[in-house]
Amino acid sequence: MTDYIDFAVIGGTGLTALEGLEIIHREVVHTPYGEPSGQITHGRIGEHRIVFLARHGYSHTIPPHQINYRANMWALKSIGVEKVVAIAAVGGITPAMQPQALVIPNQIIDYTYGRKHTYFDEGLEKVTHIDFSKPYCEELRQALLVAGKSLGVIDGATYGATQGPRLETAAEIQRMERDGCNVVGMTAMPEAALARELGLCYASCNVVANWAAGKSEQLITMDEIYANLAQSMGRVRTLLRSLVC
Ligand code: HPA
Repeated sequence: MTDYIDFAVIGGTGLTALEGLEIIHREVVHTPYGEPSGQITHGRIGEHRIVFLARHGYSHTIPPHQINYRANMWALKSIGVEKVVAIAAVGGITPAMQPQALVIPNQIIDYTYGRKHTYFDEGLEKVTHIDFSKPYCEELRQALLVAGKSLGVIDGATYGATQGPRLETAAEIQRMERDGCNVVGMTAMPEAALARELGLCYASCNVVANWAAGKSEQLITMDEIYANLAQSMGRVRTLLRSLVC
């Protein structure tokens, strides 16, 4: 056992705690960008050191557009994290992305606005542009795919990141589908880009919580979203356990 942290898990809606994580301690981390969504939970799964952060806060009170993404990613980096697995609920746009599917996305289109989305902002010695052609860390994506093989995880999707907190209109989803989006969520940006700016290896598991707006006869309810997430989180936990074992 070393102090090396194998990876961090950022839990999204439906995953505010990581069952099976033997908690060692909780750490308050302050950053130059303000406070993260909550304390960092240090724990173990078997021999492996994992840290966990609840993106929306441990009581699920921070909406997607209010999350201090810069503080979250900075906090993880500052305690020695190198790899980040982001769990995120999404709506399914294209036919394979049905509720309860687990998806390992490989591309992003950013429709968010007004978020603090970069560390390369002011007081710079030099203007900096990161390469973001492949927004997710391919090595960690492949590890997730191997870990999730028996769980039927889907390899590859374009994640459309919307501003929220409202859900989309049917026309917005049609436009996103024409753009090439397969799933829609509210948190991958700026999270993924900030991870890249910090040199973190970042990949995600999307959990499909509902058909996106206009893709089913029914209106979208929070009850439906929570029910599908509750049904899927067992598989997410299995995925994370096999990633480390
Ligand atoms: N749209 C955006 N974000 C989401 C959705 C959705 O339909 N479902 C879960 N997160």
